[in-house]
Amino acid sequence: MDDRERIVSELLKHEIVVEPEVLPYIINKGGVSYLSEFIKRYGSLGYITYSDIHEENGKENGEKKVVEKSTMSKPSAWEYDWDFKVIVNPDVNMRASGGSEDFHRLFKDRFERISSILKRKTSLREARRISRLNDGEVQTIGMVSEIRRTSTGKMVFELEDLSGSITCLYSGDKVVLNDEVIGVIGKYRKGKNIIYASDIIKPDVWWHREDRKIEENIGAAIISDTHVGSNTFIKDRWEKFIKWLKSGKDGAEIVKYLIIAGDLVDGIGVYPHQEEELEILDIFKQYETLAQYLKELPDYIKVITIPGNHDIVRNAEPQPALPMEIQKMFDSNVEFLSNPSMFSLHGYKFLVYHGASLNNLVELVPGMDYQKTGAMMEYMLKARHLSPVYGEKVPVVPLDRDYLVIDPQPDVLVTGHVHTFSYGIYKGIHLINASAWQEQTKYQKMMNFNPDPGKVAIINFHTDEVTVKRF
Ligand SMILES: [Fe+2]
Repeated sequence: MDDRERIVSELLKHEIVVEPEVLPYIINKGGVSYLSEFIKRYGSLGYITYSDIHEENGKENGEKKVVEKSTMSKPSAWEYDWDFKVIVNPDVNMRASGGSEDFHRLFKDRFERISSILKRKTSLREARRISRLNDGEVQTIGMVSEIRRTSTGKMVFELEDLSGSITCLYSGDKVVLNDEVIGVIGKYRKGKNIIYASDIIKPDVWWHREDRKIEENIGAAIISDTHVGSNTFIKDRWEKFIKWLKSGKDGAEIVKYLIIAGDLVDGIGVYPHQEEELEILDIFKQYETLAQYLKELPDYIKVITIPGNHDIVRNAEPQPALPMEIQKMFDSNVEFLSNPSMFSLHGYKFLVYHGASLNNLVELVPGMDYQKTGAMMEYMLKARHLSPVYGEKVPVVPLDRDYLVIDPQPDVLVTGHVHTFSYGIYKGIHLINASAWQEQTKYQKMMNFNPDPGKVAIINFHTDEVTVKRF
């Protein structure tokens, strides 16, 4: 335990919280040995800011400044305890051989879990296994593959379950992608082993109807893609954001948690010639810089992070949390989870995924573009999978369990990755594509991609509302 931590823990024993700027003052005055005098002097305030001390010292120095000190100025987020529970956090030590058996297990898990959601739908109550279908009207559930189009534009695909496979012909306008698990309703012709599908049923999420609002006026700020170390990191706007959090005012008083959805640093060697766009060339120093920034935050804010494709862990999903040697650089109020992860804050279930699959969806779902991240996140919820199409631009580790299946359903779905910002709500689920802290890079300019950095989504657990603040 270093001096700083010892001081903080001593103060906490007396139920005193200080702003980070107060710590150097205490250390200058003698550190732990000065604490009893410090507590006598300022302890009654409970929450002590740098300006409390500055004002008090001003008085000592003869400045006739009338200072009104009131415990009313404490941010509401300071008043309550954290309520943070991990629901799904893939094991960091998981390994797979990459053999065909691993892939089979992964797909079987995806199929079984999503089909059990589909079986609960009234429209699929009569669903039968593929091998047990008889001529006539049928309902069945399977995984889609080999999608193609007929010359008249009808969709043809193979549908497979654990008992067999079948060809489906569908002329409706619903979109389906390879590897999705869906229900099919239609007319079966045993002789041709084909279903003339009249409808396709997606697993989808159920409407959220329960009242999840809590009594305490607190919430979480949500950001992504900080990319510390890049020379396009928007340092001035980031510092304004940190200053706002520290102020505990103008909306910051409710912020009890800060969620960062991956790409914490810019990394090294992520793309060709990246070094030309780096301000910090050592990835460890990039993390140290971020750790220093986060140390400035009030101690009552818990920071929850997952990695992204620029971070130091393997690129294949699910990505493990950052390694211990990185975690050690940060204060104990920073949590490190895997990508994706699910956790709850005061009962609100957050599903946080960096968002590599947005690169697949933007190409494969008709009508999508990077300004429509909300629609793509809706697609994920309907398919009950964060990365509906296997592989393509998303490397995957074939584990026993498919951690990208969306089950249970969240209250808040958070992604990042594409450096735009969007907020929407689908069936009562908040959809936040969190903003970045990096301006347009040369590569993005070349690709004609315009990021929308420096925005923060703030969810208030008391009102169940999301507001957006731009820095
Ligand atoms: Fe990023």
